[in-house]
Amino acid sequence: MRNVLITGGAGFIGSHVADRLHARGDHVLVIDNYATGRRDNLRPSANLTVVEGTIVDGALVNRLFDDFKPECVIHAAASYKDPHGWAEDARTNVVGTVNVVQACERTKMGRLVYFQTALCYGLHPLEQPITLDHPLRPYESSYAISKTAGENYINLGSVDFVSFRLANAYGPRNMSGPLPTFFDRLTKNKKCFVVDTRRDFIYIADLVEVVLKAVDGAGRRGAYHVSSGTDYSIKDLFDETTKALNIRLNEPVEVRPRNPDDAFTILLDPSKTNQDFDWKVTTPLGVGIRDAVRYYQEFGITETYTHLKALHAQQ
Ligand SMILES: NC(=O)c1ccc[n+]([C@@H]2O[C@H](COP(=O)([O-])OP(=O)(O)OC[C@H]3O[C@@H](n4cnc5c(N)ncnc54)[C@H](O)[C@@H]3O)[C@@H](O)[C@H]2O)c1
Repeated sequence: MRNVLITGGAGFIGSHVADRLHARGDHVLVIDNYATGRRDNLRPSANLTVVEGTIVDGALVNRLFDDFKPECVIHAAASYKDPHGWAEDARTNVVGTVNVVQACERTKMGRLVYFQTALCYGLHPLEQPITLDHPLRPYESSYAISKTAGENYINLGSVDFVSFRLANAYGPRNMSGPLPTFFDRLTKNKKCFVVDTRRDFIYIADLVEVVLKAVDGAGRRGAYHVSSGTDYSIKDLFDETTKALNIRLNEPVEVRPRNPDDAFTILLDPSKTNQDFDWKVTTPLGVGIRDAVRYYQEFGITETYTHLKALHAQQ
């Protein structure tokens, strides 16, 4: 049984990790300010404590570390919902991360797990699939810039860390990216379009599996890619969503050219993760989408989020 602190634990990824950890008997402390998280994401448990607050508050972060004494920290809190909200991105993703890292250093905490955006490689990667040797060029969005600064601060310290650079994560509770938008529009009989891009998708249960391995000590200090190693067109995603909803469209969905701040494809090479964590993606896209759709049908979508300027303007 471990004490695990999860920042952003009321969010999509953090809450799924929390579920698995407290179910197996670990003690979980969540800190979340509900900027994009949902209260109903966290199932009550005797092993779970939730603190409403921000990681930008260094005194609060230090107090939580001193009282709870985490042996592992899952740092999932991030700001991204307003592409023009540079100050909040910098506060949460840089200052908040510095607060977490320095508390880890001060208390000699065991291992930190971080989640990095694949946009750290820029919108026009130099290779496909992208390897871990690819230069970091996060210049096109405030989110990517600030998340990369956070990763750099983690690396600057001496704490043992694993930074998972992620493909597009999807599944129940996911409120960003194209899937919740497709669900929302299709179920309201609104016209949809898909952008001519390709993405590598990672189902949440597959992601949580590798996170648990990291909590249990697998992997070495540094960055890893979490991806299936296969990219799909957004149209594939759309088609799987209509299938899961049992909807037949009268005409094929419109395919639009991509926005200037959008990458054509993001395909991460997961081979080092496959090897060091003895892990690979096992959930087929159609199965994962069906589960996500079931969740949206049961819990609804209150708000969807994007850090992409052009998409944000359309919402
Ligand atoms: N979902 C993906 O595809 C993806 C891809 C790459 C990286 N990531 C990273 O994974 C992590 C989790 O993302 P997610 O998809 O679960 O998003 P999410 O929005 O569901 O979760 C982020 C959580 O952080 C909380 N939060 C924001 N600012 C905070 C602050 N100052 N203090 C405390 N809590 C705060 C939010 O309320 C939310 O619950 C983030 O660090 C994100 O950058 C996600």
